[in-house]
Amino acid sequence: MTNSLRNYLNFLWAGLVKHGQTGGLVPSQRFLITKMIAPVPEDYHGQIIELGAGTGALTLRLAARCPGARILACEINPTLARDCRDNLAMAGHNSRVEVVSASAEQPLSELGRRGMEKPDFVISGIPLGNLGGEKALALIDAIRRALGEGGMYIQFQHSLLDRKKIRTRFPNLLTVPVFLNFPPAVVYYARR
Ligand SMILES: C[S@@+](CC[C@H](N)C(=O)[O-])C[C@H]1O[C@@H](n2cnc3c(N)ncnc32)[C@H](O)[C@@H]1O
Repeated sequence: MTNSLRNYLNFLWAGLVKHGQTGGLVPSQRFLITKMIAPVPEDYHGQIIELGAGTGALTLRLAARCPGARILACEINPTLARDCRDNLAMAGHNSRVEVVSASAEQPLSELGRRGMEKPDFVISGIPLGNLGGEKALALIDAIRRALGEGGMYIQFQHSLLDRKKIRTRFPNLLTVPVFLNFPPAVVYYARR
């Protein structure tokens, strides 16, 4: 079995048995990923945090786009986290991309303890709408606290359900639809 087929099957399985957590049946595709990573300058040398990395579809593109950046990615599903790590290692990105198999709150709250600088970008594919109102708001708050001044929180979602929630914490919010993805999505660019 090829590596990408294994990734697709693992993601599909996660989407079927843990649909609420996974939030989809297939990894994000090219156009959505392009929109998600577009605000990060190619010569960015700081810290980026990715939440809900899945099998690493976005992580790989981000690492290739920003060779000077340090990326900390987290993924709650250990099987998908392992696939993500394997993919990064095969692409030669494992020295500056760390993948932790953990819930998003963990790396966000541990930044200081790990001696990491505040990220200028937090990029998230976490299915916010499936977390429940209070948990979603708590996560958005944790992202806001973790971000450096003027930093950007980038989130995709397959509905507009949580737009208002994000705007209560990030009044400076831009919403962009991405139709060329299955399923279609919206990308939020939220400036701190
Ligand atoms: C819609 S998928 C996106 C995956 C990948 N970023 C992509 O674009 O293909 C959402 C991912 O977030 C993960 N996830 C859900 N809740 C999480 C949490 N609280 N902490 C970390 N990861 C989480 C899921 O396991 C899933 O892999």
